[in-house]
Amino acid sequence: MQGQRHILLIVGGGIAAYKSLELVRLAQKAGFAVTCVTTRAAEQFVTPLSFAAISGRRCYRELFDLTDEAEMGHIRLSRAADLIVVAPATADLMAKMAGGHADDLASTLLLATDTPVLIAPAMNVRMWNHPATRRNLATLRGDGIGVVGPDEGEMACGEYGPGRMAEPAAILAEIERRLRKGPLAGRRILVTSGPTHEPIDPVRYIANRSSGAQGSAIAAALARLGAELVFVTGPATAPRPEGVQCIEVETAREMRDAVMAALPVDAAIFAAAVADWRVENAVTSKMKKDATGAPPALRLAENPDILREVSRLEQNRPQLVVGFAAETDDVIANATAKRERKGCDWILANDVRPDTGIMGGSENAVTLITAAGATEWPRMSKEEVAARLAREIAVALGAVT
Ligand code: C5P
Repeated sequence: MQGQRHILLIVGGGIAAYKSLELVRLAQKAGFAVTCVTTRAAEQFVTPLSFAAISGRRCYRELFDLTDEAEMGHIRLSRAADLIVVAPATADLMAKMAGGHADDLASTLLLATDTPVLIAPAMNVRMWNHPATRRNLATLRGDGIGVVGPDEGEMACGEYGPGRMAEPAAILAEIERRLRKGPLAGRRILVTSGPTHEPIDPVRYIANRSSGAQGSAIAAALARLGAELVFVTGPATAPRPEGVQCIEVETAREMRDAVMAALPVDAAIFAAAVADWRVENAVTSKMKKDATGAPPALRLAENPDILREVSRLEQNRPQLVVGFAAETDDVIANATAKRERKGCDWILANDVRPDTGIMGGSENAVTLITAAGATEWPRMSKEEVAARLAREIAVALGAVT
């Protein structure tokens, strides 16, 4: 198919190889052509025939296969793809890549290629944490090789920790992100999302009802337009956007530090429902009821206003800063005043009175407030709000006309 994107999938020898079959299936469904290469060790787990059957293409195995050299030399095989994906990337395969070995088809392809490479490591937690693997990982990253995962969790060997291969859907999201071309390609955009939790003691905290759904949807919509995302989220219940770099924080102060560390960015969207106050007299041991039954007095201190701080930066101010105004009364007047007060470029105002069902719900009704005035958008799903906002951002950044 003309214009079809092509992945060369190198399957290393690990139990996670069975998940690579699912990756082939998902990638094909997403429109990719996938050619598979198995290492000898991979064939102990899944047969080349399975990969050939699912990919609908020949699965390559041996370096010194004369037919292959006549039909498709290894150099051509390694360069015909838009992206080479190594999944699972075993500790051994990573070591070979880092050392520049070329003693079988997989390692030779990886050494001969000038195509971008993405690896999905999978190994026992101790192997992953071993200094040799750490060194190899640093070398590979330094060579410009992309890494997705590994995940943390229970492993086939019975141990627990980082080392499980990333799920096929997450690998595919990363593949799409790397091959993405879109109006926002090359732009870096920050999105904050979710509530913050402000501790009272080790078991209690102050929070709010934000689910993080709107922030996740905005990050996903911007990523779909090709932007590189930095997604800073508090403890939200909404799923994290796939294929987006996520920085998890708990408190407003942690969110502020993560935001500042992420600068410079081209645009910053502050969708988080940051707690305005934290408990100044939070304690590190659980509070007990005392004999008098008198409730403890919580002393509140103001949290940093991240949106205001970023909007007023003299250096590194993003070209476009967008805030949200969740209001229950006089939505437009309050949001317009908020835009001035914060110093941001746009405010997306929404009515969060409980009867609207917006806070924590799947729909949103927003008004976009810019220097030019207020534009009311019809009530629509949070995904549609996100897509429309992403388009407006692309226009504001001059990425589309
Ligand atoms: O002042 P208010 O909380 O209503 O402002 C809402 C906007 O400001 C949102 O965009 C929110 O993400 C941002 N904000 C912030 N830091 C705070 C409070 C709000 O970034 N401490």
